Amino acid sequence: MTRPTTDAVLEIDALSKTFGGVTALDAFTMSVRRGDIVGLLGPNGSGKTTSFNAVTGIFPPSGGTVRFDGADITGLSPQKVYAAGIARTFQRSRLCLPLSIFDNIMIGNHGRLTKGLWFNLMRRRAFRREFEQGYEDARALVRTFSTALADRLFEPVGALPMIERRRIEICRALISRPRLLLLDEPSAGMTHDETTQLMDDILDVRGRIEGLSIIIIEHEMGVIERITDQCVVLNYGRKICEGPYAHIAADPEVQRAYLGAE
Ligand SMILES: Nc1ncnc2c1ncn2[C@@H]1O[C@H](COP(=O)(O)OP(=O)(O)O)[C@@H](O)[C@H]1O
Ligand SMILES: [Mg+2]
Repeated sequence: MTRPTTDAVLEIDALSKTFGGVTALDAFTMSVRRGDIVGLLGPNGSGKTTSFNAVTGIFPPSGGTVRFDGADITGLSPQKVYAAGIARTFQRSRLCLPLSIFDNIMIGNHGRLTKGLWFNLMRRRAFRREFEQGYEDARALVRTFSTALADRLFEPVGALPMIERRRIEICRALISRPRLLLLDEPSAGMTHDETTQLMDDILDVRGRIEGLSIIIIEHEMGVIERITDQCVVLNYGRKICEGPYAHIAADPEVQRAYLGAE
């Protein structure tokens, strides 16, 4: 494999998405450097989630290109984007509450279970080995967030408080060993203290996983200031500002966009 020639892990160029007459994303260009945490900001309806959906193949973009580690991944299916190394969490929780922590995390691991069901039925020992490896991986991952949680892998997710559920969602994304993690409003519905804890976790994860890059959609300015290296601000589907937090926070157009949205 040829090594990427730039420091950018993700390069989005002139990405557009229209729904009927609505331009949700308008020639959006941004890039993410390896190892950075990038904050994606903007009022409600400004196209933040749409940009994640266009990158991860949920909606094919109407125009533009997406390059990941130097390869063109524009318009690939969600499965292919995921296999390429991009994992995400969703704005609304996608956990299956009656299922256990373990089951929920393994749903995120389907890309690494290489052998099909039929093979596994025929080869129980191989299946068992794969299961045990999955259990060890899941347990090790959960333990990095919380040792108490790692001992409760077979309890239903529905019994857990919101912050633990969010941690499980992040574990589910990380079990595929992505090089880019997209987090869509991970702090939604949490208290200020829970948000602070979760952001500490996210900083930890970045510190622990060599080369992992993260894009986080987040509204709370204090959070953005504390955890991001770079920020990008969207308004009506267009990028209106980018740079370190101090730069975007001082920008009059950004301030207008936020005040106008309130
Ligand atoms: N599946 C869809 N069908 C039609 N319009 C959509 C769809 N998804 C998003 N939109 C529209 O695109 C715009 C951007 O939405 P979204 O990306 O969800 O904003 P954000 O995440 O910044 O709040 C909004 O006007 C929204 O109504
Ligand atoms: Mg959104």
